[in-house]
Amino acid sequence: MLNAEKNALLTRVGPGTPMGDLLRRYWMPVAGVTEFDRRATKALRLFGEDLVMYRDLSGNWGLVDRHCAHRRADLSYGFPEREGIRCNYHGWCFDSTGACIEQPYEDVAHADARMKERVHLKAYPVAEKGGLLWAYMGPQPAPELPDWEAFSWPNGFRQIVLSEIPCNWFQCQENSIDPVHFEWMHNNWSLRQKGVLHPYSAPHKEVGFEEFEHGFLYKRVRGNATRQDPLWAVGRVCLWPNGVFLGDHFEWRVPIDDEHTLSVCWSFTRVPREAEPYAQESIPTWYGPIRDDEGSWISSHVMNQDFVAWVGQGVVADRSLEMLSPSDKGITMIRRRFFEELEAVAAGADPKGLLRDPDKNRRIVLPMAHREIFTEGLPLDELRAHPIFGRHLFHYPFQAGQPEAVAQAYRQAMGLDRLQAAGHEAAVAAGAAPSSVSPARTT
Ligand code: FES
Ligand SMILES: [Fe+2]
Repeated sequence: MLNAEKNALLTRVGPGTPMGDLLRRYWMPVAGVTEFDRRATKALRLFGEDLVMYRDLSGNWGLVDRHCAHRRADLSYGFPEREGIRCNYHGWCFDSTGACIEQPYEDVAHADARMKERVHLKAYPVAEKGGLLWAYMGPQPAPELPDWEAFSWPNGFRQIVLSEIPCNWFQCQENSIDPVHFEWMHNNWSLRQKGVLHPYSAPHKEVGFEEFEHGFLYKRVRGNATRQDPLWAVGRVCLWPNGVFLGDHFEWRVPIDDEHTLSVCWSFTRVPREAEPYAQESIPTWYGPIRDDEGSWISSHVMNQDFVAWVGQGVVADRSLEMLSPSDKGITMIRRRFFEELEAVAAGADPKGLLRDPDKNRRIVLPMAHREIFTEGLPLDELRAHPIFGRHLFHYPFQAGQPEAVAQAYRQAMGLDRLQAAGHEAAVAAGAAPSSVSPARTT
C-alpha cells in the first residue's frame, strides 16, 4: 500500500517531475524504423511532451518540438529537407539539434537582424537499434543505448508491435514482475474463454525474486516442477526500468503521459534449420488493436490480456487501496528500488543500469531459458514438438491483429509455405488451427 504522495512519485512523468527526470536518463524505444517506409514524419507524445519524429532527406533522424517556434504550426505536417524539417506554414527550417537554419522571408528581407540565430526548437537525440527508433530525453551526455544480444541473433524473423494503452505506465511495469498472474490471467482465463472448466493449469508453489545489474529476476515453481526447472533455475527478466524480457520477446512500457502508455513489443522467432540461412531485410512494425468492434477489450492474446489488467486498475492505480500479498514481493522490491533511484538522481548520481562504457555494451546477454534454441536453432520437427515454441510456430501469440502481410512474410521466412507445397499440409494445418493459441505456454 502506498499513500497518495508516494503513488504520485512513481506515476507522474511530466517535465520536472522526479520520475520523469529519472526515466528520461534511459533510451526509450518509441517507433519502428519501417514506419518511415510510408511516412516522413510521426507525431509522438512522450513524457507529456508533444514531439515530432522525422527522417530528413539525408537519412538523419530528428525528434523535435511538435510546434514550430514561429507561430506554433504542427511540424508533423512539415516536410523533411536535405537537412532538417521545414514548417509548412512559413517555411522555417530546423535541424536535428533544433537550430533554426532557414527563415525564407526573414533571411531575405531582414538579413541584418540574423533572427534565426536566436531561434531554437526543443530537440532530442534519436538512434536506431534492432529495427526500433529510440529517443533520449535526458541530460547530456547520453548513456549507451543497450545492445541486447537478441538484437543481433541471426536467422530470425522479428516484428515490432505498438499499442497505446490508456493508463499510467507504472501499473504496466508492475506486471513485469508478477509471476502468479501467468497462471490466472493467461493460463486459466484462456481455458475459461475456450469453455474449459477443469483442470486448471499447474498452480504456483513457490515464487522468488532477485535483483541484478539490468533489473530483477522472477522465479517460480509450478505443479510438480522442481527448482531445477528453468523457470526457477533461470527465471524471467523484469528489465530495468520499464521492460520485461521473456527470451522470445521484449516488452517496454513507455510513458506517453501520466495517463497513457506506449506498449512496445519486439519479438524474435528463430527460423527452423531447414530455412537457414535467413536474413530479414526489414523488420515490420504494426499497431495492435486493444478493443474489439463492440468496444470491449480484446482478450484473446497474451499481451491483450495483460492490457485488460492494466486498464482495469484505473487510469492511475490507487495504491492506497491495494492489499499486497507475499506473491507481490517483487513489486515491493521494484518500488523500493525506484524510490532509492529517485533520491540518487536528485543527488546528482547516475541511476541503476545506465551503461557508460562502450566496451561493456556489446551483445549483452540477459538471463533466459532455452537460449540455445535461439542461438542454435532446431529442425522443424523438433520445433513443432517443443512444448512452448511448437505452439507459437503457426500463430503470433502475443497480440491480436497481426496484418496478413506480416503473417505472410513470417510464413515465408519460416519456410512454412514451402513445407505445405512439399506435402506437409497436415502438419501445417494442424499447427495453424486457432486452438493453437496457447497463452498457457508462454510463461
Ligand atoms: S508557424 Fe512555422 S514557419 Fe510560421
Ligand atoms: Fe502477462
